[in-house]
Amino acid sequence: MRFLITAGPTREPLDPVRYLTNRSSGKMGYALAEAAQAAGHEVVLISGPVHLPAPDGVAMVRVEAAREMFEAVQSRIASAEVAIFSAAVADYRPVVRAEQKIKKDAATLILELERTEDILGSARLAFGFKGYLVGFAAETEKLIEHAQDKLARKGCDLVIANDVSQPGIGFDSAENAVTLCLPGGRTQALPQQSKTALARELITFITRHVP
Ligand code: CTP
Repeated sequence: MRFLITAGPTREPLDPVRYLTNRSSGKMGYALAEAAQAAGHEVVLISGPVHLPAPDGVAMVRVEAAREMFEAVQSRIASAEVAIFSAAVADYRPVVRAEQKIKKDAATLILELERTEDILGSARLAFGFKGYLVGFAAETEKLIEHAQDKLARKGCDLVIANDVSQPGIGFDSAENAVTLCLPGGRTQALPQQSKTALARELITFITRHVP
């Protein structure tokens, strides 16, 4: 099968030397790309800036800002049968990217931010994606409720929910524990384990559920 996977954070520039970003390491997305490739699938990995080597046998597309990730997905998703959105895309970017480095003239500085493109939310309607769609939900409260809501709103077949308020799992950790949220309100918990082991389990689950 052909997989398209997004991974890592995005960087939203403020001026030539600064950007807004988040703590995503890209480990979960890269582990998924490796696991899918090892299971014999074709993988395109669209990655924000991370400190990880490109997995063997995977077609890499490197991007920085949310807008570039959006365009990279838009131009490649039609040929995928499974799309997994594990990137921690910035939800907002500075309205203005200053041409020159911003100087510390004022005592306070107010940044005006605007929404970035919702890539997962564009998959079904805007991109017309008909394949198996997987989103992630990183939440600090009401994990299952928020994940089920995301599943329905964005037309996903599966949302992988993780509680990022728990120490030692999720963002920038080697391990993760997740709950799979499926249509019809069904859930399945996968216990804490390395992201590598979890990725193998997730790829097995996904390939069994693709119609
Ligand atoms: N995502 C995306 N493009 C964005 C933001 C998020 O593709 N601009 C994807 C992530 O890769 C992940 C999922 O959407 O698969 C996370 O959804 P998120 O934006 O956190 O959920 P929402 O419910 O839309 O919003 P909120 O931030 O309010 O939770």
